[in-house]
Amino acid sequence: MIAKIVSSALAPRPAVNKALLNYTGAHVSGSTATTEFCWVAASDKDLETMRVDGTDYRTIWLNEDGESVDVIDQTLLPHGFEVLTLKTAEETADAITRMVVRGAPLIGATAAYGMALAMRQDSSDDGLKRAVALLIASRPTAVNLRWALERMEKLLQERSPSERAAVAYDEAARIADEDVAVCAAIGDSGKPLFDDLRGTRGSDSPINVLTHCNAGWLAAVDWGTALAPIFKAHRAGIPVHVWVDETRPRNQGASLTAWELNKEGVPHTVIADNTGGHLMQHGEVDLVITGTDRTARSGDVANKIGTYLKALAACDNDVPFYVALPSSTIDWRVRDGVRDIPIERRGDDEVTHLTGATADGGIATIRVTPEGSPAANYAFDVTPARLVTGLITERGICEASEAGLTKLFPEAEAA
Ligand code: MRU
Repeated sequence: MIAKIVSSALAPRPAVNKALLNYTGAHVSGSTATTEFCWVAASDKDLETMRVDGTDYRTIWLNEDGESVDVIDQTLLPHGFEVLTLKTAEETADAITRMVVRGAPLIGATAAYGMALAMRQDSSDDGLKRAVALLIASRPTAVNLRWALERMEKLLQERSPSERAAVAYDEAARIADEDVAVCAAIGDSGKPLFDDLRGTRGSDSPINVLTHCNAGWLAAVDWGTALAPIFKAHRAGIPVHVWVDETRPRNQGASLTAWELNKEGVPHTVIADNTGGHLMQHGEVDLVITGTDRTARSGDVANKIGTYLKALAACDNDVPFYVALPSSTIDWRVRDGVRDIPIERRGDDEVTHLTGATADGGIATIRVTPEGSPAANYAFDVTPARLVTGLITERGICEASEAGLTKLFPEAEAA
């Protein structure tokens, strides 16, 4: 059966806490970055977040029992909207592996909450090590997973076992709140691209932007990365139309991006994955914005399989190709993305089978390939920096290069 939208049974996501946003700003300006780079603007605009049928939501929040963690079950979208409650670190790792939650920033935030659940179960030194090992193995490509776990582990190692659970819950909430503020700032960094396009064209015809996979609020805690500038432009009254790549094999574009754009009232059209090149040749795409799961310090970007082909088509047609990311997605240890970013291979059944809604309101999974034909499921590819027009970050837009990134994030070089 199609799961129903049961809004009344759902706890609305907690309101963004202004004090926390201010705390985050102070935290960043207190590091080696100067206040010029402080990315948190705790204005009322930042508090306007994403809604599902009129209710504000995040993708993850603390359950009202104060211990377990609630997430939107993304495997059911767009045909059902349900919340899943995670009670243990094992359930959390499983939710990441099964893509109940997915998207680099959300994977990081979920892993942080997984550490909090783990510390409730066993806060000993061994328990800490085991939890990190369990969660780090849940998915390989998105570096936010490692980023969040290293941050949690470092903090928890400094505390006694009796303090660890409380500290872990606080830090996980901080990571989630920071992600909201960072993604809102990515939206602000990217919105001027739409202002400029509107200025140069001098008409009210919509700006056509193409996106691949899902890098909206479902992929983060709120706002999203690639979709944040689109949401901000749309809310500012700029006419926007989004070409949504379906994104086989998991169909994150068709199922998740289209659902988000629908809920937000942003005009869009879902297209088969191979359509983008044709549209670009015919002037139907003004810019491409995608997300990334791991960005090398060189500016190479790993993203959902098929992104590289869109970048090639964009380059051939002089269409600007931007990638939006929070700095937690930069892997400063990797220089050559094609060589060194691990590419997840998932089950072949995601290629051989499709799941969707039937005419009578059920959900069915069907096989689309002949029995006996082998399949391969590479989940990500790497787009070399030379094909990327710019990186949209919480501190502004930079060139996709080591020089561009270190200019915006000088503290990384010092570390
Ligand atoms: O396999 P997923 O769905 O976790 O892939 C992640 C993505 O949604 C993307 O590739 C996305 O564009 C980057 S994460 C904001």
